[in-house]
Amino acid sequence: MKIAILTSGGDAPGMNAVIVNLIHDAFSSHHEVFLIDDGYEGLLDNKFSLVKNSTQYDEYLNKAGSFIYCSRSPRFINEYHLGLDNLSQHSIDYLIVIGGNGSYKGTQLLASGIKTIFIPASIDNDVDFSSYSIGFASATQEIVQQSRKLISTFKTHKNIIFLEVMGRYCPDLAIAASNIIHPALTLTRKNKLSISDVVQQLTNYYQKHQFALVIVSEYVYSQDETNQIISMTQQSTGCQARWNVLGYVQRGADVCQQDINAAKQMAQLAINQINQGNSNVAIYYANDGQIKASPYNQLNVNGREIK
Ligand code: F6P
Repeated sequence: MKIAILTSGGDAPGMNAVIVNLIHDAFSSHHEVFLIDDGYEGLLDNKFSLVKNSTQYDEYLNKAGSFIYCSRSPRFINEYHLGLDNLSQHSIDYLIVIGGNGSYKGTQLLASGIKTIFIPASIDNDVDFSSYSIGFASATQEIVQQSRKLISTFKTHKNIIFLEVMGRYCPDLAIAASNIIHPALTLTRKNKLSISDVVQQLTNYYQKHQFALVIVSEYVYSQDETNQIISMTQQSTGCQARWNVLGYVQRGADVCQQDINAAKQMAQLAINQINQGNSNVAIYYANDGQIKASPYNQLNVNGREIK
């Protein structure tokens, strides 16, 4: 079989490990592997290259990022048929897409014209049908490490630090990091306190601890609300309050062991699916923690596994 691989959306630590493992497993099963640079953009622009041998890209195994690059492709929804033409021009039998929620939607479009396999990788952990997406543990670890550094300096100055973390509209990163760090407050879209409640609760906490760390998911408060939270907290506690956007270091986090293992197992299952002749399946972590493969039509509209 001729297999093509691309990575799409925001990169996630462990994507490279998926690609390298896919290459090894595909070669062991005597498949040919093509890499597509730049995600769906590269698919439309015909950026295919043939992998010459199974060890060609081993150096990337443990590195964050994606050595075949990622992109967001607003034109893909209207032009995906160009991608199908390019796949057909290279006589590709299977396309493996590694990405998050948005990339999964793109895969659904392509599945009308090519056999596909989807592997969830997103620091946001927002692929509905998978309880775990590759990159989430590495990004969580980065937040925890950065929090500890902030705690050291802010405790020393008896001040308050708000740490804004990624996740788009998914609270998982904020919650997972909070479970380890135990901040004074965790603020997510679901647990969005009013400005006065934030200030009140922090004031009480500050009186006891003479310091506070707050973990906030991105997009929960507007810039205006953020400014109000800072100035009212300062007024109420008498200390300095600062807002720190952690940003892209979360996506570039060192790849942790959990993501290396998940990448290996998911890649193996993906190639097994191809060897068995299955197509249009997603690889995912089921609620029982097992890695499984199911056809897209057995994942309901919200993507959740049908029991
Ligand atoms: O999807 C991953 C992610 O890092 C989100 O957490 C974040 O909201 C978004 O990407 C940022 O995207 P961009 O690279 O377009 O700024």
